[in-house]
Amino acid sequence: MNRRKFIKTASLTTAALTYSPFVGAKENLIPMLSGVSGEINLTASSMGIQMLEGDPTQMLCFSGSVVSGKESLLRTSPGFLGPTIETRKNTKLNINFKNQIGEDSIIHWHGLHLPEDQDGHPSFAIENDQTYHYSFNVANRAGLYWYHPHPHGRTGYQVYHGLAGLFVVRDDEEDALNLPSGDNELFIVFQDRHFGEDNQLIYVQSGHDIMMGKIGNRLVVNGGFPEIHNVKKETYRLRLLNGGNALTYRLQWSDGSPLHLIGTDGGLLEKRVELESILFAPGERLDLLVDFSRKKINDNVELLSIPIVDNGNSQPFSIYKFNIAYEGKKNFSMPHALSSVEAIPVSEAVNNGAPKVFELFPKQGIGWTIDGLPYEMDEARPKETTKLGTTEIWEFDLSNAGMIHPMHVHGSQFQVLERVNGPYSQGLVFDGGWKDTVAVLPGDKVRIIKRFNDHPGKFLFHCHLLEHEDNSMMRNFVVEE
Ligand code: C2O
Ligand code: CU
Ligand code: CU
Repeated sequence: MNRRKFIKTASLTTAALTYSPFVGAKENLIPMLSGVSGEINLTASSMGIQMLEGDPTQMLCFSGSVVSGKESLLRTSPGFLGPTIETRKNTKLNINFKNQIGEDSIIHWHGLHLPEDQDGHPSFAIENDQTYHYSFNVANRAGLYWYHPHPHGRTGYQVYHGLAGLFVVRDDEEDALNLPSGDNELFIVFQDRHFGEDNQLIYVQSGHDIMMGKIGNRLVVNGGFPEIHNVKKETYRLRLLNGGNALTYRLQWSDGSPLHLIGTDGGLLEKRVELESILFAPGERLDLLVDFSRKKINDNVELLSIPIVDNGNSQPFSIYKFNIAYEGKKNFSMPHALSSVEAIPVSEAVNNGAPKVFELFPKQGIGWTIDGLPYEMDEARPKETTKLGTTEIWEFDLSNAGMIHPMHVHGSQFQVLERVNGPYSQGLVFDGGWKDTVAVLPGDKVRIIKRFNDHPGKFLFHCHLLEHEDNSMMRNFVVEE
């Protein structure tokens, strides 16, 4: 495997200076090292990755290096994924994105609450060989976010060819829970790819691929092929991203235990919930705890994807395998209360009682759409215009059409207010906590409530099935001052 190494170019002095206010401070102040700034170089370029036997697969990859700040800001990831950025809430980051993929690109920080010029709107796309200098403060609470390109019409292609990485935010509230960490915290990114005979990736080839989304012939986990993961008889924290273009999973444990869900897109839930299964759509993240302490050595436990609807001809398949390999040392009892998640009051919405309805349906000559419209780079209708500092209720209406659309809204995290269930979503989805992507199922009407705070400007909302996003299930919304 062609591993990309990151090089730390900064001297230790920078880090030491940043920490100096704490020199001589009492030990219990040490965990307060938040607000450390850093600068990162991120370059996207094309490279050959040894995925299968024989020829390497030609892909597009992010590689990175820390220019200044803590070395732990970047972690190389296995396989073709970009490095994982790990930082704390209220950190100021400078990120220099160099585009060397031979076509226009721009990075979007999925889930982060950022100003317009930091959010990777396609109108900010840069050409090959240009550099975009990001500089922003991480305002989000602890959670698993991610980054990927967002140029108009090419997002699906570029992500599919390898451009994506994780963005982990930590904060004091999460630290206080002492959740499993180190070897006991696993980041798992699910994707799928279609490999041809020549080991090269096959992307969209037909209108059908666009309408249904591009589904691969191989599951890819953390940028490589899934291997059995050896674990101890301890509790693990699983941080999952569905980074695939189009495939939705429905997760369940093979041994019949419940899924212990502690967080979703926007970080920790208020309380841990136990679910028999959960739907997991492109763009979404899940935070799970799993306790292997009562297992026996050599037991196997699999994370399965079971059929979303039981139509008799789909079978469960394994997406991640654990082998209980070692005795455990650490005792951990799963917490019940996790964090404070304040429900946005319905009365706060300026359009309480009259949600803005966005209809999702396919249109001849365009593809899947929002309200029958194509994407227009500079347009926003009055309905797509909000006032800075206000809260609104939106509704995604899929009552007349039939496939899953993970609807994603840029800017701050939202909450799902209510879901008028179609025939499928009952018992399949979990709508609690802070979300930035919500799976709308055939027949559903999903109402969300969202604050439009801090940042005026033009942002996006779209289906995160990337072939839909590109063709052309995406619209702008404008936050006016
Ligand atoms: Cu992850 Cu606009 O996307
Ligand atoms: Cu996003
Ligand atoms: Cu869609």
